[in-house]
Amino acid sequence: MINSVDTATNDSKTKFMIAPSILSADFAKLGEEIAAVEKAGADWIHVDVMDGHFVPNLTIGAPVVKSLRPVTKLPLDVHLMIDEPERYVEAFAKAGATYLTIHVEATTKVEATLKQIRELGMKPGITLRPGTPVERIFPFLKWVDLILIMTVEPGFGGQSFMQDQVAKLGALRSELKRIGHTALLEVDGGVTDETAKYLKEADVLVAGSYVFSHKTFKSDYASAIRALKDAK
Ligand code: DX5
Ligand code: ZN
Repeated sequence: MINSVDTATNDSKTKFMIAPSILSADFAKLGEEIAAVEKAGADWIHVDVMDGHFVPNLTIGAPVVKSLRPVTKLPLDVHLMIDEPERYVEAFAKAGATYLTIHVEATTKVEATLKQIRELGMKPGITLRPGTPVERIFPFLKWVDLILIMTVEPGFGGQSFMQDQVAKLGALRSELKRIGHTALLEVDGGVTDETAKYLKEADVLVAGSYVFSHKTFKSDYASAIRALKDAK
């Protein structure tokens, strides 16, 4: 079961929850960066895990998540951009991930992996590349607490928002209603106060460069987070 704080949403009027992506943070002082966004009003911490194979970039793995777990009270929202994520589910459970999201394209064992994530005490999430039709994840929705819609090609922070992905939100809302299931809708990639205006159906917005390297706000993370929340 997911707790009331995380599920008190799912309608277009409630303000967005904001999950700063640490991919754009200063990795030399990650603990301080996380403490700063927590103080600035972040709701979750988004952790992008890349394997240099599923996506053409390498980032961090379970040992870093383990080090971050004691640094913050916020949920750790771990986005796995790795092939065969089932190989690492146990490691991320031990490390203290709260949400563990896998790509539908990354494994032939989607349902089993989602079930394993839940059995190990985490909240399962599913996501898809922009080029993957939304219907491809429909068979798995009943197993997840979180659905992540990618509005950039996974791999890098700071890319431009893909407007043509927005329709997936409505399609997912309808499908969830049809099957009578509740899950949070999260959007990741190119999120700004401008693009957030198209995302009112979402519950959670991931934002990397907008929070950590905003041209005007600079290290005023509270203003950046507030601007995103106010977009709904
Ligand atoms: C991209 C990652 C994103 C990324 C978002 O593969 O999944 O979480 O950090 O960065 P921005 O918000 O800068 O597009
Ligand atoms: Zn991400």
